[in-house]
Amino acid sequence: MKLLKKFYKNKKVLITGATGFKGAWLSLWLKILGAKVYAIGYSPNKNKKLFFSLNLQKKIKIKTLDIRNYKKLKLFIQKIKPELIFHMAAQPLILDGYKKPYFTYEVNTLGTLNILEASRNVRSIKSLICVTSDKCYESNYSTIGFKENDKLGGIDPYSGSKASAEIIINTYFKSYFGKEIKFGIASARAGNVIGGGDQSPNRLIPDLVNSLNKNKKIILRNPDFNRPWQHVLEPLYGYLILGINLYKFPKKFSGPWNFGTEKNTVTSVLKIVKIAIKKWGYGELKIRRNKKIYEQTNLQLNIDKAKKILKWKPKYKIKESVELTIDWYKKVIRKKYTPEQITKKNILEYMNSK
Ligand SMILES: NC(=O)c1ccc[n+]([C@@H]2O[C@H](COP(=O)([O-])OP(=O)(O)OC[C@H]3O[C@@H](n4cnc5c(N)ncnc54)[C@H](O)[C@@H]3O)[C@@H](O)[C@H]2O)c1
Repeated sequence: MKLLKKFYKNKKVLITGATGFKGAWLSLWLKILGAKVYAIGYSPNKNKKLFFSLNLQKKIKIKTLDIRNYKKLKLFIQKIKPELIFHMAAQPLILDGYKKPYFTYEVNTLGTLNILEASRNVRSIKSLICVTSDKCYESNYSTIGFKENDKLGGIDPYSGSKASAEIIINTYFKSYFGKEIKFGIASARAGNVIGGGDQSPNRLIPDLVNSLNKNKKIILRNPDFNRPWQHVLEPLYGYLILGINLYKFPKKFSGPWNFGTEKNTVTSVLKIVKIAIKKWGYGELKIRRNKKIYEQTNLQLNIDKAKKILKWKPKYKIKESVELTIDWYKKVIRKKYTPEQITKKNILEYMNSK
């Protein structure tokens, strides 16, 4: 972690999607590391509550901008001249992807194209990390774990939009690196992320905490789905290490990276909920299966590349990640900590853990 502090101090970093769940955590972490953080967010976003409750509007320079607007995006990037960009802005929900496929493709695919194109001739940039998803792989019902060079695919619009973004990212690197693009370009594929403060509807933890808090039954639509659940700090740590390496060795570290969980640690929705109820202290659940909408039943990422080359590895076991997440909500709801205090505490403890 000393390396993170040394490297990011005073670095100019742009985060797109900073008002989102992962964006808010990354913004605070980068502030703690001493970076100069610039951010792009978009108003209609449920998670911006976390952003404001972390008081990030006072700590970083935020511009409300739609990444679909190429002209405005380009002007902003040219004006601030960032050294590193973490592109996380997206429509990130599978269910919303089914409801609004065109919008999902516009934001996730065209939005990523806009980021790449707007960055193309900007000399200040050294690292560009585009966050896509573990859902970008072609579904094969395998439990072995997708490797970075496995086939891209996607049955639903969200997954397809992220797979399409991956193809665009790869073509920009292959076509322009060493010419108009002197910086490293990587894509980061992480698993199902949990942590305090997520407000997105139809995500397991926010729905679960809402029910627990209101003393309502927890409704599970897919109890047997297995996912690589991970605490939000795990992939963010991966992105931060990748950012440093891309900055120093752009060619070597460009390309796709999986930041998932250790082998054989995918966990069912039901198990996650049981750990959460135990940590909360009480709660009842009801299963109401949802067969109308397709989602992969098993999803596992192979993380050997990041472990071997980046020396990154997950620090928390799944039980710890769920407990840490539930503890965040419990402490905030019961007013033991403010969101800012507990998020900072989680970040500092993560940095000090082995
Ligand atoms: N949370 C997860 O479990 C998970 C898993 C895999 C991948 N991801 C990816 O990680 C990234 C962040 O996800 P999140 O969970 O923080 O999502 P989120 O919904 O909490 O945040 C999304 C962010 O993108 C911004 N945004 C959306 N549309 C925009 C637009 N048109 N212009 C500018 N900004 C726009 C929102 O304002 C918000 O800041 C996304 O790319 C998502 O696909 C998330």
